[in-house]
Formats: sequence, structure tokens, C-alpha cells
Amino acid sequence: MTIATALTKKLKIEHPVLLAPMAGVAGGALAAAVSNAGGLGIVGGGYGERESLERELIAAGNTPVGVGFITWSLRKNPDLLHVAMAHAPKAMFLSFGELTDFAPVIKQAGIPLIAQVQTLAQARRAADEGADIIVAQGAEAGGHGSTRSTMPFVPAVADAVGDIPVVAAGGIADGRGLAAALMLGASGVLCGTAFFASRESLAHANMKRGAIEGEGDNTQRSSVIDVARGIDWPSQWTIRTLRNEFTDRWGGDMAGLQRNIAEERPRYMAARDAGDTSVSAVIVGEAVDLVRADESAAEIVARIVAQAEAVMRSAQDLLT
Ligand SMILES: Cc1cc2nc3c(=O)[nH]c(=O)nc-3n(C[C@H](O)[C@H](O)[C@H](O)COP(=O)(O)O)c2cc1C
Repeated sequence: MTIATALTKKLKIEHPVLLAPMAGVAGGALAAAVSNAGGLGIVGGGYGERESLERELIAAGNTPVGVGFITWSLRKNPDLLHVAMAHAPKAMFLSFGELTDFAPVIKQAGIPLIAQVQTLAQARRAADEGADIIVAQGAEAGGHGSTRSTMPFVPAVADAVGDIPVVAAGGIADGRGLAAALMLGASGVLCGTAFFASRESLAHANMKRGAIEGEGDNTQRSSVIDVARGIDWPSQWTIRTLRNEFTDRWGGDMAGLQRNIAEERPRYMAARDAGDTSVSAVIVGEAVDLVRADESAAEIVARIVAQAEAVMRSAQDLLT
């Protein structure tokens, strides 16, 4: 038995599970593994490093994968869109910024456009601009996001965008989450945290261990690590990570971090390269409670789908 939805039909995939385009984590090997397992893998285009994008697209081999960009960052380096499109992606994914400059180019090429949104207003705009699939991202998500919660946000987006398939994101890392998302009116899920520690993920081994040992209670949204890394994120989006010594030290004193940035930035970057999780934060969301050790992406996809099928079947017993 499989779970057939508007999403699986639109993308011609077997399972309604998409890999989030995680910068520095979702490379070609992970994206290809998710696609080969019947979902759709999406390579994280990150902050516009052409060399790493080309390397990861080549690493995906002949497996069809999508490519995701951080829209405000892509605007600074729009040529990357063409680099991605030259690899005939199965879909283009845009999040965090206006679609206007890019949607027509993607649509003209006949490539499905997936837009990730954090507000209802953004969902309506994405629908108007021709998004083929809309990802409703709740604040539980790992990485950047905003303030709406997945549970009420997903059905509201589904109501707002008519026939466009909606995908739920934020806090979903097992089959219970997939089944719940389908009940909320979504036709699939987009997962980041669930795949962060997978064997194919590009994350540093210490970061993967940090995720496996981490708890959702210990995650928080802030801008500390963006200031530390010197990435100029618009203030409407913050980043959810596990707390650590660094985020605890500076979370309540951003002005102090700015004053000390000459020492703190190199310290943060060195810690990131070395996988020192006491300084460089593990970027995962509340669903980190559900992340397990040593699984391949294929095992994760199979586990999510099998559990969703089982809980949906057993839910029928609730009907009398
Ligand atoms: C490590 C990490 C990096 C991420 N990087 C990106 C990114 O580069 N672009 C993007 O659109 N979303 C990014 N996200 C957010 C995902 O697109 C997605 O919304 C999120 O992972 C879903 O929530 P979950 O982590 O609970 O599964 C990232 C998430 C994580 C965990």
C-alpha cells in the first residue's frame, strides 16, 4: 500500500516526503538518497556558493532532485538560478523572500515551483505568482523560520490557496507527523531535522551526535548565530538551533556580541569547522526528540511512511 496524494501525483513520486534544502547539510548524496527512496530530495543551494552548488548537483548523479534557494540571498547572486536550472532539476524550491524575480523564469522552463511560506499573506502571494506547491512552515522548524505554529497554520494555508497542494513543514519527523499533516489538509511533508543526522547528511559528525543527543526542550529561535557568522538575515526570520554556551552567553546581549564581533566571529567560524558544538550551534528543530542514531535516508523515509500507514489504519478503529 502507498499513500497517494495530490503531491505525489504532481511530482510523480512514490511517497509524500520531501527533503528540506538544508544549507550545508542537504547535499547531492542525501538528496539523491531521498529521491531513490521514493520521496523528493532537494539540494540546499545555501548562500550562493557556486562551487559547492555545482559540486553537490554533480554528486546527485543521474537521480532527479530539486534545488532550493534562500530567495533574498539568490537576489544578490541571480546567476545561480541558471546554474541550478542547467542541471534539469525536478523542482525549484524558494523560501524567504519575494518570488517575483524568479517565478516566471522557472515556470517558463516548465519546472515545478515549490514556495515555502511562513505567513498566510505570503501563501496568498505565492499562489498568485504561480507556485505549483506551497510549503507551510511552522515555527517548530529547524533552521530559519518565523512565528506561526504548524498545527493551525497548515489548515489555514490549505484553505487559502485552493487547489494548490500544500506541504506541511516544521516539527515533523515521523509517521505520526505525516499522518497528522494529511489530516490537517496537507498532501505531504517537508522534513529537515529528521534527515540532519542521516548517514548521507553533510553535517559534521559532532553535530550529528549533538542532534541525536539533543532534546526539543533545548531548542530556541534567535539571531545569535547569524550575527556571529555575519549573515545579514532580514529580521522577520530567526534561526532555531539547540542552545549551547555561545547562544546562552550572547542571546540576551546582542549589542555585546556586536561589540565583540572581531573576536567572536573567528571563534565561531573555527568552532564550526572543528565541529565544536559548545560554540557552533546544532541547527535542528523541536522534532529533534524523534531523531534516531545511525539511519540512512532510505531507512528514514521508509520508517516515516510505514508508521503513517499504520497509524492511519489504526485510527479507523476510533470510528464507531
Ligand atoms: C540544518 C537546517 C538547515 C536549513 N537550511 C535551509 C535553507 O538553506 N533553505 C531553506 O529554505 N530552508 C532551510 N531550512 C528549513 C527547512 O526548509 C524546513 O523548513 C525545516 O527543516 C522544516 O522543519 P523540521 O526541521 O522540523 O523538519 C533548514 C533547516 C535545517 C534543520
